[in-house]
Amino acid sequence: MLSLRALPLIVSLVVSSVTAGITEPPCDEPKVAYWFSFGDSYTTTGFTWNSTLPSIGNPLGNPAFPGDTGGGGENYVGFDTVTYNKSLILSYDYGVGGAVIDPTLVAPLTLALPDEVTQFLEGAAKKPKTSPWTSEDALFSVWIGINDLGNTFYLNGSRSAFADLLLERYFAQVQQLCVSLDVGGRNFLFINVPPTYRAPLIIGFYPTQLNLLKTVIEGFNSKLTAKVKAFQAQNHGVTTWVWDAYTAFNIVLDSPQKYGFVDNSSYGEPGDFWG
Ligand SMILES: *[C@@H]1O[C@H](CO)[C@@H](O)[C@H](O)[C@H]1NC(C)=O
Ligand SMILES: *[C@@H]1O[C@H](CO)[C@@H](O)[C@H](O)[C@H]1NC(C)=O
Ligand SMILES: *[C@@H]1O[C@H](CO)[C@@H](O)[C@H](O)[C@H]1NC(C)=O
Ligand SMILES: *[C@@H]1O[C@H](CO)[C@@H](O)[C@H](O)[C@H]1NC(C)=O
Repeated sequence: MLSLRALPLIVSLVVSSVTAGITEPPCDEPKVAYWFSFGDSYTTTGFTWNSTLPSIGNPLGNPAFPGDTGGGGENYVGFDTVTYNKSLILSYDYGVGGAVIDPTLVAPLTLALPDEVTQFLEGAAKKPKTSPWTSEDALFSVWIGINDLGNTFYLNGSRSAFADLLLERYFAQVQQLCVSLDVGGRNFLFINVPPTYRAPLIIGFYPTQLNLLKTVIEGFNSKLTAKVKAFQAQNHGVTTWVWDAYTAFNIVLDSPQKYGFVDNSSYGEPGDFWG
């Protein structure tokens, strides 16, 4: 529902530290790291899981870089795979525009996180593996919740209890990505919900309720941080990172020109923050 034209993400730092753990390949084969990303329009590059797979020279598989993104042009997955990468990275991007955490809690536009996880389990995770990734050289990232909160924040009933329910379902899916060594996710990056109450689309739709959305997002994000800690504590050998998109977006939106954007509210044109 909301998309972003240009987002200077720091995910590359995380990707690099995963890369640092790669064992030396035999002979002259280049070292490769793998990135499995899950999410919504902020993440999608239009990848079809059972079509052309990522390979050296075509690191996003299909469509080729920059792919078919939510805001047009490059997004963080493409940028960090191809432009800011410090090693060779092959990215399997399962993100789909309009995706939500659980289709029984919030209606998705098309697919939801469980569909994305199924595509991974049926594709790249399946033995014999279609790609030779290992637990050590793979990063799993999840950026979801934007549509879930944007489509429900104004409803009656405890939003805090609903956030708990969303996060319970969210981490049931994440657990599937690391449940066994066959699937084997060990490195996990989580991205929290950005301040969408500052997005032009939301400002237009809900002018009187922006503070409510802000409170709901902040509540969800603080519960997400706690949930990530619990996930790491409960799964031996798992390493987690949280990228605080909420704070990063606010920093840029408070000083848009400093970061090369026209202002903090224009959208859809080159130089605009919002796509
Ligand atoms: C790819 O998977 C989708 C479901 O995700 C299915 O509808 C489609 O038929 C599959 N395509 C091929 C070529 O197997
Ligand atoms: C970054 O990725 C591109 C595309 O796969 C690749 O051509 C380039 O060599 C990579 N950069 C480094 C430093 O490995
Ligand atoms: C919430 O509850 C109030 C009072 O019962 C009602 O007037 C309002 O329509 C409800 N709003 C939604 C979105 O259900
Ligand atoms: C944009 O920036 C101005 C001035 O810095 C601020 O007053 C305004 O609230 C910001 N608007 C949004 C949508 O963030």
